[in-house]
Amino acid sequence: MLITFEGIEGSGKTTQIELLYNHLKEKGYEVIKTREPGGTAFGEALRRIFLHENLNVLPLSELLVFMAMRAQHVEELILPALKDGKVVLCDRFVDASYAYQGYGRGIDLGIIETLNRFVTKGVRPNLTILLDCPVKKGLQRKAANVMDRFEKENIAFHQRIKNAYLKLAGEEPKRFLIVDGKKRVEDIETIIRKKVENLLKNYGI
Ligand code: TYD
Repeated sequence: MLITFEGIEGSGKTTQIELLYNHLKEKGYEVIKTREPGGTAFGEALRRIFLHENLNVLPLSELLVFMAMRAQHVEELILPALKDGKVVLCDRFVDASYAYQGYGRGIDLGIIETLNRFVTKGVRPNLTILLDCPVKKGLQRKAANVMDRFEKENIAFHQRIKNAYLKLAGEEPKRFLIVDGKKRVEDIETIIRKKVENLLKNYGI
């Protein structure tokens, strides 16, 4: 079972993934928590350079590096965990490429689709939780930290990402759960728990 979390910067997905992880573990599920970019030694090493060094990166280079990290992540961590019947919680996955490199940077969505299919070997999330939150609110939450390369983008870029995620969710309403990120942390947690518990029950896990 693969559950992914998506949303703009500062939407609260990292908090919610942690809460769900602890809850499922307490309930006795075999669960792992991972993230993109990153998740493997290779991915985490690239992540540091990629997000935090002041580099000029072309959109196409950016896309291909994310895809390289994803290929490694799927092969080394996600596929083996899924084969073992574990619940995998992933902070960003395939949809981030459509949102950021597709709608954000303007790369052809068909190319992203082909690459995504290729590097994931067809692995698709069973559920994607989209934390939808106003751009201003998200960026305010992030402003206290050192901004990474994406967080430094202008408001219009982040607005495109927000709209892109809502569009993606609209295209696949069965896979996505859209949660209002303006709600209280505990309320969001409850909504997510309910959905995930139903899903696990339906899958007989
Ligand atoms: P993010 O989850 O925001 O990290 P953090 O919560 O620690 O700030 O991920 C870092 C950035 O990577 C984010 O701005 C989105 C970007 N990203 C892409 O542009 N494409 C992708 O395919 C992925 C996985 C991430």
